[in-house]
Amino acid sequence: MKPLIVGNWKCNPNSLVEAKKLFNSIVKGVKTNSMVAICPPFVYLSELKTKKIKLGAQDCFWEEKGAYTGEISPLMLKKLGCLYVIIGHSERRKYLKETDEMIDKKIKLVLRSGLKPILCIANLGQLKNSLKGVKNLILAYEPVFAIGTGKACSVEKARKMRISIEKKLGKNIPVLYGGSVNSYNAGNYIKEAGFQGLLVGGASLSANEFLNILKNIDKI
Ligand code: PGA
Repeated sequence: MKPLIVGNWKCNPNSLVEAKKLFNSIVKGVKTNSMVAICPPFVYLSELKTKKIKLGAQDCFWEEKGAYTGEISPLMLKKLGCLYVIIGHSERRKYLKETDEMIDKKIKLVLRSGLKPILCIANLGQLKNSLKGVKNLILAYEPVFAIGTGKACSVEKARKMRISIEKKLGKNIPVLYGGSVNSYNAGNYIKEAGFQGLLVGGASLSANEFLNILKNIDKI
């Protein structure tokens, strides 16, 4: 399987002009064997179009429609051309108080809507046995200490975690690594730690750095 490299822009950039500029620079430079997806803020999704890379969202709600002020459903995201939805990111667990129960409901609806959830976990306790073998599910191991800190997880620790996740979920679910990934360390998580892809935060906000990550992975 080709590696899956996902850029998570989080709450950036703060104008459509900048978002288009960043997106277009990435699209223009993309020439890779990896599958690539960008997850911009919701408001830019309808404006960013290309056949070269996939789009994803950073969250969604657990109901299809109804009286839920401020929420966005997976079906709406699908209609905007999204393929992926990040679910349970540690920043949402922390700042929005998302619980395992909420995350569970979101995953179910994302799957029912024909999209692929990228479930973020920071430890094995957040991994339900019921997810074993679930088709279209993607896992992302993101240790909290490594997110946005510049202190990426050691390759050995990440490798052990990947093996534990595979023991619990089976080998058919792709597992990504996320947390301070950059163009220097990216290849190690694929080559040495055996991950099937990466979830890239800060480094996906620079087209150059993101494209260098892809280039380095192609060299493996
Ligand atoms: P980071 O974020 O690459 O900036 O550490 C990763 C993530 O939160 O998905």
